[in-house]
Amino acid sequence: MKKYVVLTGAGISAESGIRTFRDSGGLWEDHDVEQVASPEGFQADPKLVWQFYKDRYAQSLSVEPNIAHFALKKMEDNLQDNFHLITQNVDGLHSRAGSERVIEMHGSLSTAFCCACNANYPLAELDLSVAIPVCKKCGKSLRPDIVWFGEIPYYLYEIEQLLKDCDVFMVIGTSGSVYPAAGFVMTAKLFGAHTIAVNLDRPDNLGFIDEMHQGKCTELLPPLVDKILSRA
Ligand code: OAD
Ligand code: ZN
Repeated sequence: MKKYVVLTGAGISAESGIRTFRDSGGLWEDHDVEQVASPEGFQADPKLVWQFYKDRYAQSLSVEPNIAHFALKKMEDNLQDNFHLITQNVDGLHSRAGSERVIEMHGSLSTAFCCACNANYPLAELDLSVAIPVCKKCGKSLRPDIVWFGEIPYYLYEIEQLLKDCDVFMVIGTSGSVYPAAGFVMTAKLFGAHTIAVNLDRPDNLGFIDEMHQGKCTELLPPLVDKILSRA
């Protein structure tokens, strides 16, 4: 049986009502990336950064996974250990669609960690009415569990093994402009995988894509998954 690895980005959650980053109307159009998505920005104004992520967390809970998220859950159910899902998204929608083994390489809106002792907390257990939530163990400031620009994404070692080992690598709803994730398709291809993209616009790393499906992932992904599963 072929081994599949899927990488998702903001585009898969767009039709659930979560803004992407770089499209017209995207999040980075009216927020300064340095201010809200860098360790320096957090040091300069932790209250502003916390407010930004509290709002995004609340919004993520107010929307629902869509049929593209559910199509990937169906792939997991059918392919089991031959399927791995990596996401750059922090919105938790893959888990809410039922996917059980999601690699959240850019962290999660639903957790925070202590800058002093590393304790990790679900936001649901924290008092979010205070401007900067504090650690229950040591009393120091918590920060959102998000990988910011200039920081190293989570699980890179595990991801590299998956990329080298897979037969098919799919990228869904990502502009292919933020590294290292944008380079995964190149690694997978160089190690022999067939590469597939499902994206509204042509991604920046199109040169490494064998099969491009251009359009909305809610329309294109469910039939593509059914086709893949019928052959598996
Ligand atoms: P981007 O906003 O850069 O790209 C979103 C992509 O999704 C674009 O190429 C769109 O064409 C595509 N898209 C939009 N709607 C779609 C739909 N309905 N169906 C299919 N495709 C659609 O988002 P990402 O590539 O995820 O990092 O951004 C990567 C990283 O940059 C994010 O994880 C975030 C950001 O800064 C961190 O926060 C660390
Ligand atoms: Zn602590």
